Amino acid sequence: MKQSGGTDEQKRRAGARAAEAVDDGMVVGLGTGSTAAAAIRALGREVDAGLDVRGIPTSYQSRQLAREVGIPLTTLEDATPDVAVDGADQVADGDLIKGGGAAHAREKLVDAAADRFLVVVDETKRARTLDLAVPVEVLPDAVPVVNADLRALGGEPTLRDAERKDGPVVTDNGNLVVDCEFGAIAAPEALAADLAAVPGVVEHGLFVGMADAVYVGTDDGVEVLK
Ligand code: A5P
Repeated sequence: MKQSGGTDEQKRRAGARAAEAVDDGMVVGLGTGSTAAAAIRALGREVDAGLDVRGIPTSYQSRQLAREVGIPLTTLEDATPDVAVDGADQVADGDLIKGGGAAHAREKLVDAAADRFLVVVDETKRARTLDLAVPVEVLPDAVPVVNADLRALGGEPTLRDAERKDGPVVTDNGNLVVDCEFGAIAAPEALAADLAAVPGVVEHGLFVGMADAVYVGTDDGVEVLK
């Protein structure tokens, strides 16, 4: 799993608070990454204590963790999530950059399908303006043409290399990831639409206008942004 800047305690606090928003009988989208993992562990403890929920994982990682902590699983074919709890790489004005763990395609699918989408982050993720490179999941054959289109949109694309494997990162869906620098993103909604329109792009990591609440874990507690 990739490393992120906040402390484990900040992540634990954010995850635990979001898990409190899950009621008996709910279907829960289970996000990916270290902060979403804290929420999954907290939910697992609630399940141990008798909470009846079913989870819809957004990645191999979240599926394995949910199984480990005893959360029964279902799929989007069989259920609609009442709530999704997921992390983010950066948050500004409720908009997000996600995909640091290359799971943003399934994350967007599940998070968007949920009645409520709760974001869990540590305080290092907050920013005035989104300015991280935007992860873009791309069909393997399409990388050269997608890169040309990304450059035409003003971006600087870099194919994401794997760690402890030669060659690129391959997503859970068998695709590749291009991280595209745009500098400070003044108009996230417009960029999101432009990226979505590029042939060969499976999904991009801009999540605009999707979050219902952001739980920010700090050293003192949890700040809730709505
Ligand atoms: C997975 O691809 C991402 O969207 C994660 O949700 C995001 O990278 C946040 O992960 P951390 O909580 O580990 O920072």
